[in-house]
This record gives sequence, C-alpha cells and structure tokens, in this order.
Amino acid sequence: MIKYDENRKIWVLEARNISYALGVSETGLINNIYFGEKLPYISDYPEARNSRDWASFTSGEGRSKEEYMAWSKIKYTEPCIKATFHDNVRDVVLKYDSFDIKDNTLTVILKDVYYPLEVRLHYTVIEDCDLIERYAEIINKGTQGIRLENVLSGSIYVPRETSYRLSYLTGKWAGETQLNQVMVPETKIVLESRRGTTSHHANPWFALDKNAEATEDNGDVYFGALAWSGNWKIVIERDNFNLIKVSAGVNDFDFAWHLKPGEKFVTPKFIVGFSNKGFGQASRNLHSYQLKYVLPENHRNSLRKVLYNSWEATGFDISEEGQIKLAEIAASLGVELFVMDDGWFGARNNDKAGLGDWYVNKEKFPNGLKPLIDKVNALGMDFGLWVEPEMVNPDSDLYRKHPDWVYHFPTRERTEARNQLILNLAREDVREYIYDFMDRLLSEYNIKFIKWDMNRNFSEPGYPSAPEEGQREIWVRHVQGVYEIVDRLRKKHPDVVFQSCSGGGGRVDLGILRYFDQVWTSDNTDAFDRLKIQEGFSYAYCAKIMEAWVTDGLNWLNGRKLSLRYRFHSSMMGNLGIGVDLMKLSEEEKQEAKELISLYKEIRPIIQHGQQYRLLSPRNSKVAAFMYVSEDKAEAILFTFLHSNSFGDELPAIRLKGLDENALYAVEGYDREISGKALMNIGINVDMRGDFDSRLIRIKKTGN
Ligand code: GLA
Repeated sequence: MIKYDENRKIWVLEARNISYALGVSETGLINNIYFGEKLPYISDYPEARNSRDWASFTSGEGRSKEEYMAWSKIKYTEPCIKATFHDNVRDVVLKYDSFDIKDNTLTVILKDVYYPLEVRLHYTVIEDCDLIERYAEIINKGTQGIRLENVLSGSIYVPRETSYRLSYLTGKWAGETQLNQVMVPETKIVLESRRGTTSHHANPWFALDKNAEATEDNGDVYFGALAWSGNWKIVIERDNFNLIKVSAGVNDFDFAWHLKPGEKFVTPKFIVGFSNKGFGQASRNLHSYQLKYVLPENHRNSLRKVLYNSWEATGFDISEEGQIKLAEIAASLGVELFVMDDGWFGARNNDKAGLGDWYVNKEKFPNGLKPLIDKVNALGMDFGLWVEPEMVNPDSDLYRKHPDWVYHFPTRERTEARNQLILNLAREDVREYIYDFMDRLLSEYNIKFIKWDMNRNFSEPGYPSAPEEGQREIWVRHVQGVYEIVDRLRKKHPDVVFQSCSGGGGRVDLGILRYFDQVWTSDNTDAFDRLKIQEGFSYAYCAKIMEAWVTDGLNWLNGRKLSLRYRFHSSMMGNLGIGVDLMKLSEEEKQEAKELISLYKEIRPIIQHGQQYRLLSPRNSKVAAFMYVSEDKAEAILFTFLHSNSFGDELPAIRLKGLDENALYAVEGYDREISGKALMNIGINVDMRGDFDSRLIRIKKTGN
C-alpha cells in the first residue's frame, strides 16, 4: 500500500508491519522521513525538511536524509551518483520532478537542473515480507555522452539514537559467512568486494540494531542486502551529528560507465527491512522473500532433490565405470540426483589444463556421456554436471585459438590463479561461445542439474580492443553476461536446476538467486565448521538454497573425525547432499545413511519451506540448536549439537520457538503431550554426551 499526501508532498510505503516514508524538501530534495514500525495515520509522518546549516562548513542539505544524493554543492557523505558531463562539469544537481504509483511500486523522478539527465527512483513494497525493494535508473535524455563514475542503488537512514551495532558477514575460502558484530564508530565502514564477484570475504548483507539491544527475538533491527554478484559496496557512515546512513550498490572502485544518448543504467536492487522482533524475524523475512519472490519461478515451489556429488571421493580421477559404481550405491541409498563434478571434459586430468574445452574426454568416456546418463536414469536418478564456463586454462585449445578472449593488459603478465584466466564476458562473441556449448550440452544430454563454478577472482581487468570509455565497464558487463547467459539457458531448458558455486560460497547474493536455484555453501564440509558457516548464512539466506554435503568421516580440511549421524544432522539443516566416498562405506553405514536420507525426505518440506529459528549459537555455546517449523506450526524439527562436555555439566534445557502456544505437541523422546507454551518456556532436555554428539527431534501437533 502506498499513500501520498499531496499538500505535504510525502509518500508512505506500508508493508504488513513496517513503513518507509519519504518526501520532497523545501529545496526539491527527496528526503527520508521515516523508517520503522507502521504508524496509524498519514498525519503522523513529519514533513521532508532539510536539516540546518552548521556554520559555513556543513550545509543543511549535506546533513539531510537524502534518498539519492548527487555529488554537488556542500555535500560530503557517500553520494549515490557522481558523473561528468561532456563539457567536463563534474557536478550533478538533482531536483524533484514528478512521481508515479503503480500497484505496489512508487517511482520518483528527479532531473538535473541543467543537463538532460534523469534519475528514476523505484520503490516496491514487498508487503507480506515487510521489505522494501529499491533501485534507480539513470537515463541520458540528451545528445551527448555522460560519464558515470559512481552509481549506487540508494541510501537509507536509521533513526538517530545513542549508538548502533553493526552485524555483517565476512569469511574466506572454506570459511564463509561468519557473523561479526561491532559498534558503529563516528566514521565510515565499507563492506565491499573488488574481486569481480560477490566474494567469500564479505557478503552484501548488513544489520543495525539500536544500542546493541536486539536479540534473536526482541528489539529493533534494520537490515538490508544487495542483489549484485560483482564488485559491490555497502557503506555505513556515522556522521558528526550522529546520523547513520547506509548506502549500497555497484562498487565505484575502478568503475566508469559511458552513458550514451538515449541509454539508461539500471542499478541492482537494494532490499531493506525493519523488524522489531529481533534478528530472527529479520532473517525469516529475507527467507520468505527469497522463497516467494526471488528464486527462479519454475523451480521455486518444488523441493530440492537429495544429490550425490563425487568430487570429494574421486577428485579428477573419474571414469564411466567408476561413476557408474558410485551411482549404483547412491541410488540404493535413496539419492535422487547424481552429479558428476570436474574432470569429464577436454584434457582435464588435474587443474592445469582443459578449462574452456567443453567436449567430453574420450579416454574417460569413450562413448560420450550417454551411457552413464542412461544408467543413472535407469537407476531412477536425475543426472547433473559440473561446468566452469567463465574460465579458461592457458593449456587448452580454446586459449590457443583465442588468447585475446581473456581479461588482460597488453604489457602485463596474465596472472593465473588455479592455473586459470577469466574469459571476458563483456565480449559478445565470448557470451555466444558459452551459451552455445551450454546449450549443446543441455540439448544433447538428459541433464537436469548444472553446477556452475567460478574458481578465481579477477586480475588485470583489461579489455584492450574496447574503446577507451568502455574500459571500466567490464566489472558490470561481466555480471550482466553471467545473468544473461543463464537466463537464456533457463528459458530454453526450463527443467534444469542451476547451482551457483564459486570455490564454495564465493557467489551467494540476492542477484545470483534470481537466476540460480541454489548455491554451494562452502568447500568446507567439516560438519562442525559448517554449523558456524550455516548459521551465518541463515542471517541472510534461506535453508532451501543452502546445499550441504555429508562427506568422509575424517575431514580433509581439519582432520576432524565425526560420526555419520552428526554429519547427516549438520547437512540435513539445508538442502541435503552426499559427497562421501561411497566405496568406503561399510554395510552398517550404508544402512544408517539410507535411513537418514529417507528421514530427510520426510522432513524436507519443513526444512526447505518452513520457518527457521536459531535457538543456541555454535559461536558462543557448547550446545548449538536450530529449529524448523512448518508454516502451519503443525510440525517442527529440532537439531541439537554438543561440541564437547566437561565436568559432567548439565546441559541447558532447550527452549523451543515458533510453536503454537495453545496447541499440544508430541515430542520424540517424551511420553506425554506438552503445550507449545511449555515447550517455549520450559524447553526440553536433550541427552547428549561426550564430544560432537547430536540429535534430531521431531515435534508434532496433536491437538489444541
Ligand atoms: C570448486 C568447487 C568444488 C569442486 C571443484 C572442482 O572448488 O567448489 O566443489 O567442484 O571446484 O574443481
């Protein structure tokens, strides 16, 4: 619902519990006037006045809560737009022009006071998720080019309070999405990627809570996420007047965009929300947004299949015979999708050669992939395949033929990482090449799943044959290239489920999730480390997209040994996959795996489509607990993990969440029925002992 007060020139965007309001100031700026819990009347909202000047050094306009600040005049905080016109004027002065409301979308149009530059700010209310989606379009309405040097998606402000705590996600390869929390100092904090992709190192999500008061269930939390899979930045600024501004968008580092006459630049979406029920509700709002509005529509409502992937079992050492053996065991355990990873193409016997040569390796698969796929299908499973389309090994036929197809600077060495270089997706011919080989593979073979990998970040981002003004556009064009290719492939092959992988979770964001159905969370498959990675992941992303494999008992990364049950429990909290070396499993282990896979299939609608609750964090408690509750609260699954007990300590009772207070529930392990209220107030005792113990407990409503 969007309301407009014509006299006071303010708009109020209302979702179920929150509102976001903006208006036109006395000097024609678009200023934010409110963001928080929904207020009853439009007259409750203030007018959009500018702030006061502070001597001659800080202008009132510069201190105002501008929704889309242009770099001009006496304004020094993070601008949303900075541009140079054909006459070298490097100053944009935007003033309100008009607006338009269509359904749940408000568009506010701003124009430069002199040059033919128009900015359209779009706000869409995602009513049932209590979120606002915003983005901007920058349009050149003139006859001369305009050079954009910074174009963000927008800025938001939180109410002025004594202090705020910032929560954000950082990490590294094999250690993604770790939650960090810090009080916001009087300065600027930049969360960003300059690596060409979203990156393992920081994820485009943030949350701010007043005076560090919010908990999982209580308190005011402002949060947001950026839908972009390339260089991005989120700037959190606390000015000298204690105002916090958060600006997000494409990173302006090494960026420039030549906006030709008649063209427009469309920014990525910046999704913002407010919850007065703590971090848990903030996360669940983002989860339902992904499940209802973001994930590609054709597979949005279907449950993800249990997959097997042989990467950790075989590495590059694959063959038709070996894969068939694994497929037979996988099928007998109840696996539904068999995925062949790296090593099936070109001269790919290790990571030194073959990337770019997307034809089947004849030594490993003398009759192509058909015999293997037919066998997998006959076993009742779908077949999936690994590809890394944006990359090339210098030792490949593709590179020998097209050395100019990679990003490079002519006078510089082409720096390799994992022996590979990055194909220049700003080039039309490269995009066509990728689309063609992918289309050929998907047309020739019965492939139902693609794991699309990206195993390095950018270096020497040059495009020597492009015109001078286009050189710094590659950062954006590359991402647009990935989106465009996958979009075309999805249209032609709607049955195929796409997974985004970048050496694990290096490309997880709300942008990629519009084109990919799920993500590979991390190359770290240590089930204990995964509790922390998955917990961090859950702040921003839902469980359905989070693929989690059960791998070997002795983990290759940490050398930690964990029971099969613990490994399953950790992986069952997301989209379950199996990556264990099946040839090494004993008959007993196979039986246990079979039972757990079958249990997962029973509970997966609750895990993948239910509401997720974080009960006890593996970051600060020796007992970690997570819960998933069906939409109608009739069923719930509790996962508990004991890290390590000492001194014979009694473990804490685990207080459940998200249940129907007045209903009665049957809890596995209890011989009496207990009300939701009691389960949430007293909790339940879970008997776990020793090191790395775990339990999965089913809870079912029996009556009211
Ligand atoms: C990346 C992926 C792994 C695997 C390898 C194959 O590291 O994250 O899962 O596919 O590439 O080379």
